[in-house]
Amino acid sequence: MLANVSLRPYNTFGIDVIAKNLVIVNSNIALAGLLLDPNWFGIEKLILGRGSNVLFSRDYEGLIILIRIAGITCTGQTEEDITLRVGAGEDWHSFVLYCVEHGYAGVENLSLIPGTVGAAPLQNIGAYGVEVKNVIESVEAMNIETGEVRFFSNAECKFGYRESIFKRELKGQFVITAVNFKLSKKPQFQTEYGDIRRVLEEKNISKLSLKAISDAVIQIRTSKLPDPSQIGNAGSFFKNPEIPISQFEELKVRFPNIPGYPMPNGIKVAAGWLIEQAGWKGFRSGEVGVHAKQALVLVNYGGGTGIEIRQLSAQIQNSVSSKFGIQLTPEVNFI
Ligand code: FAD
Ligand code: EPU
Repeated sequence: MLANVSLRPYNTFGIDVIAKNLVIVNSNIALAGLLLDPNWFGIEKLILGRGSNVLFSRDYEGLIILIRIAGITCTGQTEEDITLRVGAGEDWHSFVLYCVEHGYAGVENLSLIPGTVGAAPLQNIGAYGVEVKNVIESVEAMNIETGEVRFFSNAECKFGYRESIFKRELKGQFVITAVNFKLSKKPQFQTEYGDIRRVLEEKNISKLSLKAISDAVIQIRTSKLPDPSQIGNAGSFFKNPEIPISQFEELKVRFPNIPGYPMPNGIKVAAGWLIEQAGWKGFRSGEVGVHAKQALVLVNYGGGTGIEIRQLSAQIQNSVSSKFGIQLTPEVNFI
């Protein structure tokens, strides 16, 4: 247990706020013991993985619980697929590399996403045409009030684009302790999205493999996303908005280059494009700004505060709203 500790090393934005109490938890038993300890009853609690999708704007007066529950166990397999139970504290990218190395397909397009396995279901992490919901069989989670463990089937998680029941209805009520994945031993490679195919061609890769795809994704991501160890950030700050087809058609007349991707109920528009067109790409004010290679990523150059980043994000929202009539919703969790 640490008291009055700086959270700077515990969030990828590198925001320097103080937590009154911080504890690292390595097992379900330790977690249950903590949650049921009368000393902590009634005290505000925050679950953290690697802090790569949070923005702190204040000192935290309650208890921060860092989830470091480890372990990858095979719970069943056939010739076609394998099920793995993975502790919530495992590092996401290390888990991806483990799967790539063992020939388990389904997460290779999600290479190099920072964070823990336990946080992955929370916003249904996604990249390069794949979402983690495609490979999640169930999620094990502990009730933060009672310490009871409950299984959530894939359907019960109510996954959506950067959404799940844990981010909405049950927000703050459950600690995810393990995730059960079903991965294929017979890969179906997903190379259509973004620049994957171009990178594979540039590298003269004719025979696809999980490793080739993982390497291509790593190369693309490294070329445009800032490394949090160099410049503080939390990946995409906003979600890509979905707008009605009629609104998209109107915008297309005024902005012929607007990128849009058809969805079942509308058109998804690239928020990075909207922010760039509104003139924010590369903007810097003091210690905070908008990344020069990806306008959807807000950055902290070192001494920026969460309040400054929130103010900048509100300015961006206002300017995108007045130029395009589109309201951007943050993806990042505000604390
Ligand atoms: P944290 O930031 O620690 O927590 C995030 C939220 O989940 C908080 O609300 C926290 O309370 C809650 N939480 C964390 N762990 C648990 C748990 N065990 N049980 C219950 N609640 C929990 N995301 C994508 O989807 N796609 C991307 O391509 C992507 N790229 C990124 C690139 C960069 C450079 C960065 C910095 C971030 C990126 N992200 C991306 C966002 C981030 O990586 C994911 O959201 C990741 O899943 C966060 O994991 P974490 O362990 O750091 O969660
Ligand atoms: N674009 C611009 N200017 C910019 C940035 C992007 O015009 O400054 C345009 C690009 O040209 C492209 C489009 O926007 O046409 C999409 O850009 P990109 O492929 O970089 O992806 P994104 O939509 O900005 C999303 C996810 C990322 C994920 C990538 C790859 C969201 C909110 N973000 O970004 O996830 O890694 O696709 O699949 O859905 C995250 O969630 O934190 C995250 C990084």
